[in-house]
Amino acid sequence: MKRFYITTAIDYANGSPHIGHAYEKVLTDVVARFRRTMGDEVHFLTGLDEHGQKVQQSAQDRGIEPIELCDEAAEAFKDLCKKLEISNDDYIRTTEERHKTVVRSLLQKIFDKGDVYQAEYKGFYSARAEQFLQEKDKVDGEWPEIFGEVVEITETNYFFKLSQYQDWLIDYIKSNQEFIFPRYRAKQVLEFLKEPINDLCISRPKKRLEWGIPLPFDEDYVTYVWFDALVNYISAVGHGSDDFKSYWPVDYHVIGKDILLPPHSVYWPIMLHACEVELPKHLLVHGWWTVDGKKMSKSTGEVVDPLDLVEQFGPDAFRYFVTREMNVGQDSDFSIDLFMSRYNSDLANDLGNLLNRVLNMTGRYCDGVIPTPSVNEDLENDLWKLWDETFSKAVELYEEFQFHTGLEKTFAFISAINRYAEQRAPWKLAKSDEESDKQRLNTSLFVMAEALRLAVGLLQPVMPGITQKVWNLLGDTEDRSWKDHMQRSEILVGKKIGEKTILFPKPQADE
Ligand code: ME8
Ligand code: MG
Repeated sequence: MKRFYITTAIDYANGSPHIGHAYEKVLTDVVARFRRTMGDEVHFLTGLDEHGQKVQQSAQDRGIEPIELCDEAAEAFKDLCKKLEISNDDYIRTTEERHKTVVRSLLQKIFDKGDVYQAEYKGFYSARAEQFLQEKDKVDGEWPEIFGEVVEITETNYFFKLSQYQDWLIDYIKSNQEFIFPRYRAKQVLEFLKEPINDLCISRPKKRLEWGIPLPFDEDYVTYVWFDALVNYISAVGHGSDDFKSYWPVDYHVIGKDILLPPHSVYWPIMLHACEVELPKHLLVHGWWTVDGKKMSKSTGEVVDPLDLVEQFGPDAFRYFVTREMNVGQDSDFSIDLFMSRYNSDLANDLGNLLNRVLNMTGRYCDGVIPTPSVNEDLENDLWKLWDETFSKAVELYEEFQFHTGLEKTFAFISAINRYAEQRAPWKLAKSDEESDKQRLNTSLFVMAEALRLAVGLLQPVMPGITQKVWNLLGDTEDRSWKDHMQRSEILVGKKIGEKTILFPKPQADE
């Protein structure tokens, strides 16, 4: 059986986790969890990009071995995954043997078929960007800040004949409209490909850089980091083994917009094509988070530590915020004010209060046991009609990565349940001696509980912890498929509700 295989970019071991990394993992996790609910067998990979000049340099500056620095980074990034409740099935590190073997086998393959040549290179090199530069990279005659120190060097290196695949790539992207999501990003790639592309320098002399994978055909060189890093996507799923085809081609590579061009849309497709490996089905390209309007990077020190928010408000609140705010593909700005406003209004007020109401009123009027419904009046019918629309619409939106609007619809339904409660006003019905009011009271308590049970089901990919908690409190504890959970039913009738619980506590004033 072919699995639904999804990956994130692998993070640079040289940096520390920030909201951008956290977002990418959450987004990928939401897709992975959603596919699982839809019945797919999912394989979710994330990992760490460990080689290259910057890692070697930072380790040297600190007087430690590169691998020690990578071990620390692996701990930090794995810890991020754990705290965010990321459900990855595997974690690849590019220093692992399983990875190095595949990188070397691909290099040997392109070498053997004549796609690699040696040439003397004289030109400008940026250690910070780990790339060779050309005159055209200058802005107003100067090297832009992002390249750091630029030096002129002459060295002999190995080059991969990218340029001979340019026409093939253009053709491929044009005839596979679904390859890049959102589609407007494909236009940028085609725009880039209008200019002739250079062959790719895939080696670094060991005398300059030792921290890398030695070329199989010349041990005096190590592999250029991008040629190394990209291969993680196939080395982790056993390229070269029989099992490989149960994973590959990958369904989605989730990446940020900065690494679409050229690594994921030019190098990677050509590397695979040259090695006769199928291309990824899709690239899912997300935008960037800025913090308080500023582009955030290590060098400017504008780092919001996502772990702080996760620790203070829990993984679900953080996951909700980033998924609700970001229109996948576009950029978004993070601020504490915005976070707090979503937390208070959507989570604490709308969702948290609804749960309180259900628990309180079921406790007060029905001894904590969810009653049997018997009335179907306009108020009930309208609510269920809205549910049917919400459910099918949200699933459709999730399938198209429109999670922000899927959540918006779900919370509109949650608000509608609150409105239903106000209109039915169980507290008034409870004072009446009429039998018909007694039936309306029972019905309303059941309907609120059932509607809440269904609504939190739609939140499961985003807030798995909250969904489980609410289901447990309502007595929906049976282990069954998500699709079964999402059927309207009377499964809650007769269930004893749980203890009063505050799902989203208000933060302490002194924090
Ligand atoms: O690029 N907002 O690693 P990385 C959103 N090792 N996403 C962001 C972001 C932000 N502010 N900052 C970074 C690398 N990202 C390479 C990838 S893949 C074979 C090798 C995203 O640690 C970024 O776009 O710099 C990328 O997808 C991921 O975080 C890792 O970035
Ligand atoms: Mg980066």
